Amino acid sequence: MKIVAIVPAAGQGLRLGESIPKAFVRVGSRTMLELSVRALLDSGVVDQVVVSVPAELVDEAAALVPDATVVTGGAERADSVRAGVEKAPDASYYLVHDAARALTPPSLIRRVVDELHAGQQAVVPALPVADTVKTVNAQGDVTDTLDRSQLRAIQTPQGFEADLLRKAYEPTQLGDKTTDDAGLVEKIGGTVRTIDGDPMAFKVTTQMDLRIARALVSE
Ligand code: C5P
Repeated sequence: MKIVAIVPAAGQGLRLGESIPKAFVRVGSRTMLELSVRALLDSGVVDQVVVSVPAELVDEAAALVPDATVVTGGAERADSVRAGVEKAPDASYYLVHDAARALTPPSLIRRVVDELHAGQQAVVPALPVADTVKTVNAQGDVTDTLDRSQLRAIQTPQGFEADLLRKAYEPTQLGDKTTDDAGLVEKIGGTVRTIDGDPMAFKVTTQMDLRIARALVSE
């Protein structure tokens, strides 16, 4: 029952506004790439980690995370995940985990895998939404106010039966701009189970997030 974790880390991180791709930015003494790979290996439930990085950073990544397999990512996050899946075709289960969720606790990774072992085909960590969420039109006028009690913010790692994720990423989906692997599985009719997420698995997207991550690490 081989569990392979795919870590898409090939984004430029434009919203973060650093001069280097986001996964290579340091939080404390380590890059987000190193922290994410370390959490996956420390969970004790992952057999192989495959990281997808920008082509020009393959050698640097291999030096930073020598325990992981490094592949070249693609233009979209989905291309980067697909490259990782193709590198590890022998998996029984895949976890897909954003490098940008650098402080994810190993305990969350174990809970996702526990649910897969319990028979779920797709598992995602989810947190209740604190803010009210509205839909708006092109002018910015509100078109609807959603029922917050039914909304969840979805994190990673997301876990999948390997065949299901491979099917979700078949070439017919090429060019898909999705940022959510479970969304692709939903599209092909898969059932996705949520489990309680963890606030520490937040995604570093903006400078504010980076300040929070650095403060948490230095605590
Ligand atoms: O941009 P965002 O924060 O949503 O990206 C989520 C994760 O997907 C990041 O770890 C990022 O490096 C990765 N990614 C990727 N390839 C891309 C775009 C994003 O691996 N082309």
